[in-house]
Order: sequence, then structure tokens, then C-alpha cells
Amino acid sequence: MNFEYERPWLAEYQRAALFGPERYGVVEGSTKCGKTAPCLIWLAEQTMFGGEGRSHWWVAPVYTQAEIAYRRMKEGLPRDMIRTHDSERWIELPGARRMWFKSAEKSDNLYGDDVYSAVLDEASRIREESWHAVRSTLTATRGPARIIGNVKGRKNWAFALARKAEAGAPDMSYRRITAYDAIQAGILSQAEIDQARADLPEAVFRELYLAEPSDDGGNPFGLKAIGDCVGPLSGGAPVAWGWDLAKSVDWTVGIALDIDGRVCRFERFQKPWDATMERIGEVTGSVPALVDSTGVGDPILELLQKRPGSSFEGFKFTSESKQRVMEGLAVAIQKQEIVIPAGPIRSELENFEYEYTRTGVRYTAPDGFHDDCVCALALAVSHKAHARHPLKITPAALAAARQRQPMRFGFRL
Ligand SMILES: Nc1ncnc2c1ncn2[C@@H]1O[C@H](COP(=O)(O)OP(=O)(O)OP(=O)(O)O)[C@@H](O)[C@H]1O
Ligand SMILES: [Mg+2]
Repeated sequence: MNFEYERPWLAEYQRAALFGPERYGVVEGSTKCGKTAPCLIWLAEQTMFGGEGRSHWWVAPVYTQAEIAYRRMKEGLPRDMIRTHDSERWIELPGARRMWFKSAEKSDNLYGDDVYSAVLDEASRIREESWHAVRSTLTATRGPARIIGNVKGRKNWAFALARKAEAGAPDMSYRRITAYDAIQAGILSQAEIDQARADLPEAVFRELYLAEPSDDGGNPFGLKAIGDCVGPLSGGAPVAWGWDLAKSVDWTVGIALDIDGRVCRFERFQKPWDATMERIGEVTGSVPALVDSTGVGDPILELLQKRPGSSFEGFKFTSESKQRVMEGLAVAIQKQEIVIPAGPIRSELENFEYEYTRTGVRYTAPDGFHDDCVCALALAVSHKAHARHPLKITPAALAAARQRQPMRFGFRL
């Protein structure tokens, strides 16, 4: 079968980064610099010009991304030349040359078949077991791979592989593509970058647009700063409580700070709602407390507020309000205004991440981790800050607040 094929236009850096002779091509690139598009072209070429009956894989971190790539590929190829299967997500070119679009969520699904070439898109978000699985399927065929994505911290296999490739390991090519390369090629606009630089914390911008991994791997507090705040649990009296209520699977957590910002009480339990409320009321007493009143928390807050002598206020978590209290917590940690005990509070802080999505920055624990201690601590810090200056806005405080405003995070990551 002869194909009449003309390769679509590619930016010079796309060609250099991905279409070289090396078996492994590794690209760490800016967001939207054009990584996925040329790799779709690359995989189509591998399939077209490879032997009959061969399989080729597109591997994405999750199913939805594999689906998007599948659609893009399908739209890019002449309809009368291909056979497709939407639920199994494969596209076949004449000669039973087949491309599969796979999710890397379960590495077990990535063993087996001899694969003659593969693209790993968003590699820094793909689990290491899945990379090992794909690599093993390429072993028998000596098939080439393209490993592309944004950078995300330094604690992942993609970072390690990129360093190997950058150091000139045999049969590997490496290329970093920044947003400025993409501007020069006309793929990104200068205005878009300027806006991102203004909106994002420095470390996030560096990762997303300059492809420079941060030391903290997407941790908004800073690992060193967290370590600097660790100390013994204080024996002082509570001046502010933060309470995060259990949702379906996690814990109810209460954290109290003393007058010096040291964690002095730490409560963590799973109980039925009436027992939860009783416990919160009992341990908090009349100390000012900020309680998560999102969803199921609302009726609980109402009942807590009925307790004589109590001082409970509600806090509704939305993506904006969460961002605000998390940035407040980040400032407190950066300035060492709090002391936290080692254990779950510390480890949750260390595992906490920001994620940059199409709708903005999202603060959350990675899949499989909890963030209830982080939320309770953020509420306690926020409440203590407000409780200390109840309704007293001095000219000095106002000036300080104004000065702080333009720096959305108040610190450099
Ligand atoms: N060679 C090219 N010719 C024409 N358009 C291109 C080319 N490369 C990229 N683009 C366009 O630029 C946009 C971004 O490309 P692409 O999706 O490949 O980027 P990416 O780096 O994978 O982005 P993300 O960070 O979202 O994964 C798309 O609209 C794509 O069609
Ligand atoms: Mg992409």
C-alpha cells in the first residue's frame, strides 16, 4: 500500500524535538506550546510507514485525555482511509496498522501486545509503573517513544528520565520548549504569557510556561518552610479553633492555636453526626471557632451555635474561599507565624498541591490523600488573625493590607 502523504507544517522546535532519529525523544514544554499536536503527527507517521498489522500506542494519564487525543487523531485523518472503534479507542489504517489510545490509570492494561511505537503525553502525570509497562511492550520491538509534557516538580520518573536524556544518554534526545519559543513560532501570544505571569505565583509560572520544575513539586507552602514550622504540641490555652467536618470518607479534624500561633490542640475522629457535634461543642467550649459549614456542615453549625456561651462561626468552602484561606495559611507558614506538630498535620501539608486548571488554581490533596488537617489549620489561622483585631481597622493596618494586595500570595514560592 502506498500512502500519499505530506507532513503538516511544524515549528522548527517541534521538528527538532520530536522527529529526530533517536529512539527516545523527551520534551519538557510550556503549556500550549504545541506538544500533543506534533506527536499526533509523529504517531500517525510511525503507523503509516511501519509494517502491516502493527500496533502503536498513545498513552495519556487518564481516560478523558486519551479520548481527546483519539478524537483529534480521528479528525486529522482522511475518513475514507480509516476504520475506527470509539469505545475501544483504536484507529486503523490500511494494512491493519492500528493506533490505540490508552489511559495509564491502571498499569495492568499496558502490558501485553508488542507495540512498535508509543507517545506518552503528560508524562509527569503518568505513574511510574505505567511507564515501565509501556517500556516493556516496546522492548521486543525496539520501538521508539516520545515522552512529552509539562514539568511537575522533581519527584517523578519523567523528571529523572529528562535529566538522563539532557545529559546525553545514548539514543535519547532532549528538548526544553518555553513559551517564548512558542511565541516566536506564532503558536502562543505574548499577551497570554503576560497575563499568566501577572496572575500566577512565580513557581507556577516557571513550571507551566518556562518548563522549569520547582523544588516543591507543586506544594504551595514550600517544603522547607513547613519543616521550619515543626515543633512540639503547645501546652498553652486555645484562642482560636478551626474545624473541618468529615465528608463521606475522611475525618473530622479540629485544630486549636494558642496566643503565639502554636498548635495546642489536635482532634481527629470519625463518629456519627450527633456524637461529632457533641464532641466539637465539648472540646471547643467558649473559644472562638470557625467551622466548615459547606453542605452537611450547615445544620451542624446551626446546632453548635445554639450551645450556651459558644462562639461558632461558619465557613463555606468554595474554590475562591479555599484559595483565600490557603494563601493565608501559606503566608503564615512562610513567615513562621505558626508551630505545627510532626505527624498527620505536617504530612498533609507536605502532600498538599496546587493544580493549574483551565478555570484557575485549585488547592487540593492528591488523589488518595486527605486534606482535612490542612483545612482545619487554615480555618484556625484565618480565625486567629481576625479574632486578634476584632473590627479594628487602623490606618496602619489598612496601609499594610493595601500593600499586600498586589502580591496575591504574599511570598515567592
Ligand atoms: N504545528 C502546528 N501547526 C498548527 N497549529 C499548531 C501546531 N502546533 C500546535 N498547534 C496548535 O496550538 C495549540 C496547542 O497545541 P497542543 O495542544 O499540541 O499543545 P500542548 O503543548 O500539547 O498543550 P497542553 O499544554 O494543553 O497539553 C492547538 O490549538 C494546536 O492545534
Ligand atoms: Mg497537550
